[in-house]
Amino acid sequence: MVMVRIMDRVEAYHVQGFCHYLDDYWCCASYLLFQALLRGLALFVMLGVRFCILKYSIMVHQVKDFTHLLGNLEGISDAQLQAHFGLYEGYVKKLNEIEEKLPKTDKALANYSFGEFSELKRRYVVPYNGTYLHQTYFENLARDGGEMSDELSKAIIASFGSIETYFADLKASGSSVLGWVLTCKNRRDGRLQNHIVFEHHVGLPVDQEIILALDCWEHAFFIDYGTKKPQYMEAFIKNVNWKEVNERFVR
Ligand SMILES: [Fe+2]
Repeated sequence: MVMVRIMDRVEAYHVQGFCHYLDDYWCCASYLLFQALLRGLALFVMLGVRFCILKYSIMVHQVKDFTHLLGNLEGISDAQLQAHFGLYEGYVKKLNEIEEKLPKTDKALANYSFGEFSELKRRYVVPYNGTYLHQTYFENLARDGGEMSDELSKAIIASFGSIETYFADLKASGSSVLGWVLTCKNRRDGRLQNHIVFEHHVGLPVDQEIILALDCWEHAFFIDYGTKKPQYMEAFIKNVNWKEVNERFVR
């Protein structure tokens, strides 16, 4: 009888111990599962962040919105501006495309005659300047763009002789190029000059601070003026955002 009682107690002790063991087991299993879930979640978040960084670090060049110009310029129509915005967006897209492709392209195959890496490098400046010259152009357009500052006016007179000569030089430069006219401040001597740039990337001397951009590609005026580029340049001058140009001059 005593023996039976002892055995009952031993059994009860073992069952209790086993249950206690089971509790520990499930607690440990739950803990491990929780840890695994936590690590999985952390990994998922980390990969997501990495993906976003890669995606947005590649797509660094963004299309700026210039629709505020619509209906607000004199002699430059909305149809002309809309067509121009579309072309500008195309340059931004191509710039991002080249920047995405360049790191993945085999540098060992670079070659002066032909090579994918070499071609992407050679064309890079076209969409780059196509993007940022257009932004500079649209930013220096406005309705009621104010007046040329005294400081800028003095600098123009010092460099060109008179304001009239500056505008004559600007328009003559526009008639000389299929591309851009850029009024620039030379960082070496502070002199202002109008430089002509063929396409988007050929002809600009070094050390230039661009203070005004005049797009002289035919796409900038053909809807409104056909082949009459001088009339377009007159319209451009009426719409210059001098507040912006003044700021660029002193920047
Ligand atoms: Fe353009």
